[in-house]
Amino acid sequence: MRNRRAALAAIATAASLALTLTACGQDSEGGSEEGKGSTEGATIGIAMPTKSSERWIADGNNVEKHLKDMGYKTKLVYGEDDPDQQVGQIENLITQGVKALIVAAIDNKSMNNVLQQAKEADIPVISYDRLILGTENVDYYASFDNEKVGELQATYIVEKLGLKDGAGSSSKGPFNIELFAGSNDDNNTRYFFQGAMNVLQPYIDKKQLVVRSGQTELTQVTTLRWDGGTAQKRMDDILTSAYKSERVDAVLSPYDGISIGILSALKSDDYGSKSKPLPIVTGQDAEVASVKSIIADEQSMTVYKDTRELAKVASNMVDAVLNDKKPEVNDEKTYDNGSKVVPAYLLEPVSVDKANYQKVVVDSGYIKESDLK
Ligand code: GAL
Repeated sequence: MRNRRAALAAIATAASLALTLTACGQDSEGGSEEGKGSTEGATIGIAMPTKSSERWIADGNNVEKHLKDMGYKTKLVYGEDDPDQQVGQIENLITQGVKALIVAAIDNKSMNNVLQQAKEADIPVISYDRLILGTENVDYYASFDNEKVGELQATYIVEKLGLKDGAGSSSKGPFNIELFAGSNDDNNTRYFFQGAMNVLQPYIDKKQLVVRSGQTELTQVTTLRWDGGTAQKRMDDILTSAYKSERVDAVLSPYDGISIGILSALKSDDYGSKSKPLPIVTGQDAEVASVKSIIADEQSMTVYKDTRELAKVASNMVDAVLNDKKPEVNDEKTYDNGSKVVPAYLLEPVSVDKANYQKVVVDSGYIKESDLK
């Protein structure tokens, strides 16, 4: 890849020099941008995980928009949460001659062979939102500060329960909490959970927080493919087995689709009635259904990640790499994928609840006010 790019850059530089020499005094705009001519109008392949969640639909559209604005063509595919399907789609994109790939993986460990094919075809790869593991063939990573996402969710629980207020013998609690995590094949899952547990563990140790189900290990609390129905079933089971006479006060949920499932289980068990208030339920992604749920006093909060910005970062990375420039990164140590530390640009997540949703997600144009009616 580097050799071919270097050769292209050398050709472009020579051509630009020749132009400057022969057309002395004329404006040779673009000629000095190394490699630009070779990538103009190139097609970029974008592989997204699923259309079942609105955020990924927006991600796909936003990435296409940015790339098109920069003069690229795009091919956007969705893997419908099936890792084999996604790998097949990426193979097709490579065969179709895309010049770069942006991939939000379904299963972060299923990509080795297909990314080797990309490497052999000189196709740079940007890992989008979710880090691809176990391969050298990932050039850059565009995401959010994933540990911070978990911290924001847990901090919300700690503050709303007032756990910090009572030091020593007047400590508040004990409160009952249950823990949910995302899909075990998504690298983000452990970062979200770790970030949350860094905040929650001291209160669990002090017994101000009690996990009545006893399920506190990541392996016990994951939710395959982030599926809301799976989370609903687990919450149902927990309520039946661990909450006969007790009440759950808070649920750590890593993602809005999971939160909606948890809330359904709670409501079927009469939570949300006058005598049995709903627990604090966290979330992530500021999906319309969850922001509506927040307005209706059901889900308590979500973590907003401006995917428009993420799309911009990933598109700019592609543009830079294809033009032999180093993309802007702000983290070169956190994201070790097992084969290399992948240079990353991480954006900031924002905690959103009923008090600030208008300002953060509506006034910023992320969600239309009319969609929340
Ligand atoms: C994660 C992503 C979250 C959420 C989740 C389920 O990888 O970081 O924001 O979208 O997938 O789709």
